[in-house]
Amino acid sequence: MDEKQEFKPIDVKFLKEGMILSGILYSEDGRLLWPARKPLTFSFIFNLKSNKTKFVYYSPPKFKESSQPIENMFSTETLSFAVEAIEEISHEIKFGKLSSMNIAKLSIERFFHEMESFPDRFLNLMVLKNYDQYTYYHSINVGILSMYLTRKLGYNHLYTQDMGMAGFLHDIGKIKIPSKIVNKDGPLTLEEFQIMKKHPVYAYEIIKNDPTLSSFVKKAVLFHHERWNGTGYPLKLKEEAIGNFAAIVAVADVYDALTTSRPYKKALSLNDTLIYILRKSDIYFNPYVANRFVNEMARMNKIASFYPVGAYVLLNTGETGYITKKENEYTLRPEMLILKNFQGKPLRTPMQVDLKKDPSRYIKKLIEEPSEIEFLSKLFKF
Ligand SMILES: [Fe+2]
Repeated sequence: MDEKQEFKPIDVKFLKEGMILSGILYSEDGRLLWPARKPLTFSFIFNLKSNKTKFVYYSPPKFKESSQPIENMFSTETLSFAVEAIEEISHEIKFGKLSSMNIAKLSIERFFHEMESFPDRFLNLMVLKNYDQYTYYHSINVGILSMYLTRKLGYNHLYTQDMGMAGFLHDIGKIKIPSKIVNKDGPLTLEEFQIMKKHPVYAYEIIKNDPTLSSFVKKAVLFHHERWNGTGYPLKLKEEAIGNFAAIVAVADVYDALTTSRPYKKALSLNDTLIYILRKSDIYFNPYVANRFVNEMARMNKIASFYPVGAYVLLNTGETGYITKKENEYTLRPEMLILKNFQGKPLRTPMQVDLKKDPSRYIKKLIEEPSEIEFLSKLFKF
């Protein structure tokens, strides 16, 4: 084993058939046991167990994208505790006996405590995305994000921890869906999607009789795929009927899914993800919840503004605009002057438009080509 590398012991009992690790597995004496990214087989795990191997050593791949040291909001111990909690719950459900949610609750309490103790720390979930086992980490991320957003919306610690729990459990129903659908490396067929759509109901069935979970947790889990305009599932609920808590989990869920790369899709940048959420607020997402989320994430990640005053933008109509005024920093509907018409011809007199009052127009992208910016600034002097 290379001494400079970092190794994490993994209890063999946590290894499961089909699990894909992004790093290499070694034995205690440094022998390579299993390559990275290859699904673990039944016989591999069986051999370890029959040799009475208790631990194997995992070398996580280095996170290369960031050159700056990132301060985690949460300690490694708390994160690993959460992974164990989710793994244990998933395992128990799979084999038909969910004894209690205590371990998940303890895990949420630890996150909550750390979140309250270090409120100014940079909320960095990217680190988690580096590891294997997408579903587990996705659940943890959604739990953390939901808890964070619930707190920011002014709810007390009980509701906040409830939403941590809801985030943890939101996709637990996927255990009842065939793994070839859940882990498919590509878009689902219509038929597969119909099966996948049952996961919120399955999740609800698993937790509905648990007296230790509040009705808020159960409803947030059941409704996390409902959409503001009524196009979601399972009940096609609309607007306020969905409830704030399911709306919180829904935004957190989509945010984490979009910012994570999967075998069949690239991750969106943070900026594009937040713009997507804003654009879909009022359509898919509760507008109040979505706006608060975007504001918080933008502030935490030090994003100054999406479309600043003074920027040139291209509209869906093909027109070119110049942003003159914004009601708040993270709006996608500022006031502007239209400088060029849909054919790209400069207008003799720029036309004033307030996108808030004009739903037919929206910003498609920021104009960033230096030559075009120079041309426009010479053409119209503001
Ligand atoms: Fe889901």
